[in-house]
Amino acid sequence: ACADLSVIPVIDSTNQYLLDRVGQLPSGAVCVAEYQQAGRGRRGRQWLSPFGSNLYLSMYWRLEAGMAAAMGLSLVVGVAIAEALQSLGADGIRVKWPNDLYYQDKKLAGILVEMTGQAGDAAHLVIGMGLNIAMPEQEGESIEQGWTNLTQACDTLPGRNQLAATLIAKLAQTLTDYEEKGLDGFIERWNRLDNFLNRPVKLLMGPRVVEGIARGINNQGALLLETEEGLVPYIGGEISLRGC
Ligand code: ATP
Ligand code: BTN
Repeated sequence: ACADLSVIPVIDSTNQYLLDRVGQLPSGAVCVAEYQQAGRGRRGRQWLSPFGSNLYLSMYWRLEAGMAAAMGLSLVVGVAIAEALQSLGADGIRVKWPNDLYYQDKKLAGILVEMTGQAGDAAHLVIGMGLNIAMPEQEGESIEQGWTNLTQACDTLPGRNQLAATLIAKLAQTLTDYEEKGLDGFIERWNRLDNFLNRPVKLLMGPRVVEGIARGINNQGALLLETEEGLVPYIGGEISLRGC
């Protein structure tokens, strides 16, 4: 059951729409759009959001446990999306730490979790996902990394309404599970879906670059990197992972 669904053809950002209305929304409220004029990724980067071909979806969630529990959230959401797409017949969808979905080593979808709230109080989360379904080649020309569409991963492409409905239900269920049980039940599932498991990667941290072999995540949601110093956990939003 969906408590509250806003379908808006043209919007600045579905995340911003919900963030502006946090006090008036029930947990699970959703906003979807056809086109975003200011779709965004992490750290102010742009999310290309052309008309008609993709899915731009955000969900509001009130997390009683507060901000600290929000740490593992984009990981859990990645698992939810990958499993939901799998259930609709997409094969070979993978996750990339901390917030992307990949197909055949190319970016298929991005997750952006934003939040407001006071320390020691419930956290108001907005979980946004941008999923490329059938973005024309020329629309994505300015994207500097490899990207792909869901059409590539499906023999029969599900309809956009079915996709949205399945993703919304799976997301709400997953967030409920995460609130009850924490990250523990997701670690194995995440590692099984990891696009870079046991592969050489580099982590970009501002001017600093660290290379190693990706060994999945630990129970904090940190990325485990095998380096000359052994297995080192990396955590925090300012890190970008790249394949070597
Ligand atoms: P990180 O590994 O830090 O997440 P990232 O380069 O993937 O790095 P994000 O902020 O997660 O950065 O995502 C934004 C980036 O995604 C943009 O800078 C652009 O390179 C790429 N991008 C933008 N729109 C799309 C899209 N529709 N499909 C695929 N990739 C996109
Ligand atoms: C990323 O890879 O950095 C995350 C991209 C998230 C894009 C989605 S599209 C729906 C929602 N609204 C936004 O402005 N961003 C997210």
